[in-house]
Amino acid sequence: MDPLKVMLVFGTRPEAIKMAPLVKEFHRHPEIEPIVCVTGQHREMLDQVLAAFGIRPAFDLAIMEKSQTLYTVTSKALLGLEDVFARKKPDIVLVHGDTTTTFASALASFYSGVRVGHVEAGLRSFDKFSPFPEEMNRVLTGRLADIHFAPTESNRRNLAREGVTEHVYVTGNTVIDALKTTVRPDYVFEESILNELDYAARKVVLLTAHRRENYGEPMENIMSAVAELARERRDVCFVYPVHLSPYVRETVQKHLAGLDNVRLIEPLGVFDMHNLMDRVYMVMTDSGGLQEEAPALGKPVLVLRRETERPEAVEAGTVEIVGTERESILNAARALLDDEAHYLRMKRAVNPYGDGSACLRITEDLLYYFGRRAEPAAPFGR
Ligand code: UD1
Ligand code: UDP
Repeated sequence: MDPLKVMLVFGTRPEAIKMAPLVKEFHRHPEIEPIVCVTGQHREMLDQVLAAFGIRPAFDLAIMEKSQTLYTVTSKALLGLEDVFARKKPDIVLVHGDTTTTFASALASFYSGVRVGHVEAGLRSFDKFSPFPEEMNRVLTGRLADIHFAPTESNRRNLAREGVTEHVYVTGNTVIDALKTTVRPDYVFEESILNELDYAARKVVLLTAHRRENYGEPMENIMSAVAELARERRDVCFVYPVHLSPYVRETVQKHLAGLDNVRLIEPLGVFDMHNLMDRVYMVMTDSGGLQEEAPALGKPVLVLRRETERPEAVEAGTVEIVGTERESILNAARALLDDEAHYLRMKRAVNPYGDGSACLRITEDLLYYFGRRAEPAAPFGR
């Protein structure tokens, strides 16, 4: 029997980090021929991940533009994929998560009559506009998908509430698979500044922010709160690998340039990032992926958003949603820096998102779906 032609389509840094271990897993199974197609929605930040994991895409649509819009990303991805699908005729396309690449790729697969599998399915904030446009990207991808790989049981229930009950598999999140290969106690950073910090002697806070719905006043509030915190807490060091979005860079420069206990650095390679997270005191972020990784490493997270589609670690007590108001950010950060009992309560390592075997489960479930295995994998968490 010919191997299954499984095309993995992704375009941004987080999709690449979470799809990379799946590409590796597929290569271990002769029944599967993995084909990687990147849209190039991100360029430098995507290429960093591809290089780190040694992945060479068969197709690269190279669609990124400076200050791109949702319209340009969607239309360029859609048009580029029509040609790729026609040439390669995959048995199934796998997309990941909730970016505009994800939705456009699922739509293109549907238009081309190719089946679609959705990895990291079923996450929901239940607010159409937050995160924007990610909530609708994942809802619409869920409607288009033929097979759904939900990280957690609660993600599966979200799909069931929308009437999606067939071909849904609970697998764990592939990011935990990735994390198991990247974090090492004796790791030496590529970014030399990170080797110079004394993580035991000084509290180091890792900061990231990039969400589109935070552009404008929320992002101004976040940066102004961090600036105030940095001024009042000279003993704390803030490390901020700044996203390449021109809007984010402008706002960061306006508020944080010139503060010597705020280290503004370029986006980090994924090995540096995961090992940095493993060593810092706490994390402040509006990122989705960091909300999964930091709890697994026992680091408290303050989420700089009004909601989350990842309630599991909030329920476990290691993640707190603090919103985007200046005072609430300041109060939550001060509490974690000063109240040791509170810090220790939040610091417990919890890992509701996976056990490191998500990619194997996805492979087995996929083979089962195509009738090449008698049973699906045992679901994660049971
Ligand atoms: C995108 C995703 C978001 C995801 C994030 C991960 C959408 C709508 N948004 O948001 O869900 O959380 O990626 O980081 O799909 N840029 C570069 N080089 C890069 C990457 C970005 O220069 O390698 C700059 C470009 O000017 C680009 C801008 O950043 O136009 C914005 O990139 P875009 O992918 O549109 O939005 P993100 O905020 O990165
Ligand atoms: N990340 C990285 N380098 C950085 C910042 C983030 O490798 O400088 C990783 C991070 O560990 C996580 C992913 O990128 O795996 C999250 O990406 P991002 O925050 O851009 O997107 P989101 O998860 O919010 O969609």
